[in-house]
Amino acid sequence: MPDYVAAVDQGTTSTRCMIFDHGGNEVARHQLEHEQVMPQAGWVEHNPVEIWERTSSVIQTALGRKGLTDKDIAALGITNQRETTVVWNKHTGRPYYNAIVWQDTRTDRIASALDKDGRGDVIRRKAGLPPATYFAGGKIQWILENVDGVREAAEKGEAIFGTTDSWLVWNLTGGPNGGVHITDVTNASRTMLMDLETLDWDDELLSFFDIPRQMLPEIRPSSEPQAYGTTLANGPLKGEVPITGILGDQQAAMVGQVCLDAGEAKNTYGTGNFLLLNTGQELVRSENGLLTTVCYQFGDQPPTYALEGSIAVTGSAVQWLRDQLRVISNAAQSETLAKEVDDNGGVYFVPAFSGLFAPYWRSDARGVIVGLSRFNTSGHIARATLESICYQSRDVADAMEKDSGVRLEVLKVDGGVTVNELCMQIQADVLGVEVSRPVVAETTALGAAYAAGLAVGFWKDTDELRQNWNESKRWKPAWSEEQREAGYAGWRKAVDRTLDWVD
Ligand code: G3P
Repeated sequence: MPDYVAAVDQGTTSTRCMIFDHGGNEVARHQLEHEQVMPQAGWVEHNPVEIWERTSSVIQTALGRKGLTDKDIAALGITNQRETTVVWNKHTGRPYYNAIVWQDTRTDRIASALDKDGRGDVIRRKAGLPPATYFAGGKIQWILENVDGVREAAEKGEAIFGTTDSWLVWNLTGGPNGGVHITDVTNASRTMLMDLETLDWDDELLSFFDIPRQMLPEIRPSSEPQAYGTTLANGPLKGEVPITGILGDQQAAMVGQVCLDAGEAKNTYGTGNFLLLNTGQELVRSENGLLTTVCYQFGDQPPTYALEGSIAVTGSAVQWLRDQLRVISNAAQSETLAKEVDDNGGVYFVPAFSGLFAPYWRSDARGVIVGLSRFNTSGHIARATLESICYQSRDVADAMEKDSGVRLEVLKVDGGVTVNELCMQIQADVLGVEVSRPVVAETTALGAAYAAGLAVGFWKDTDELRQNWNESKRWKPAWSEEQREAGYAGWRKAVDRTLDWVD
């Protein structure tokens, strides 16, 4: 058995390749950003060809950093930004249009129409999702309706759809002239097209968006001993490595954090935040604005489900401070600047740039900064930005407690923003719950590696994975209950100000 497992993490702003050893330790990595194409307000696109080229380079560079070859890699796992929609031609491999990113709100009308005639309730019941611009179904419909020739090509079975996992597997296994066309259950559960119980595309759901079934990839487990396919000998790995794990990035982080028992939860702080609670084999339907989603399915075992609170803008609010407001020149300065003040000075920032996701699901919301007085400084704005990450997490944690009856005892955290110690302290304060960060903060890539490695016996069972988890730091709540509730009341008032902004 080779000594390592590789994982590709195709995220919203960048793609990375990481190589892990049997202890779950990082051996090598490389990461490249890709362009965020924003042709008009509310639209966000990626160039799929650029994503594939970046994926190819990060794999080659990560391997090269340690002088590794395909022979050193037991299996490859893939994890990805979910929902982001690519439609390409199966003969030429050429995309018909840029990938429409999960944050894109152009399908607002498509999504809101679903709740006017009862289709929304069918989607909630079968797919576990509230109709929203966030999910892939409406994005596919938009491409079918607005890009010349795609509808006809789709009817003929030539235009095919995939989230970026499918796109990468297609290219890794077959090159432009046709690889394997598959996805995994976790990604499929983000489309509004899959029935959570049958784990298959559902004809009634497809009819709501007028999507021809032949466009869709085959749905496979997240960890696949049969392998979805093997990498091409003339591809970036320069050899045939089995691809045996695929998970949407938030589900991958659950696996990387070994939240493998019902009742275990994690919060990932990336472009957005995603708080997931493992509900085991029970499909818990939310009554408080959360999603029901597939957490993972290993081989022929039954699927494990999760409740999810998806927050669109958290880390990207810090990027906004850097790139648009220009009050900081790098993300780390958000911490230094926020430390210049003792508290938020009455300022709340609700970064509802893509409307509000969980638990509100309001595409008509837009961002606000409220409570300003002459006394306030850029330090207060920075502090309010970090608080917005934590208050949005509190919104979904409260909803999760109501839905599941489970009160979080410790919150496991991961993702880029968790290096911000002040933000993690605020999170503990705002929730009144201890916050725990693992040694390996790259849990998303690690989870994909685990799924791939379990399939080929690199790790023999999930107990081995649990032994790899170690805590690096824990933050304890320091606020009084009174302080916590007063702060949260201010947040809820600020959220009210964002609503009904767009007609
Ligand atoms: O659902 C969107 C999510 O998968 C994106 O995650 O880390 O790429 O921002 P990230």
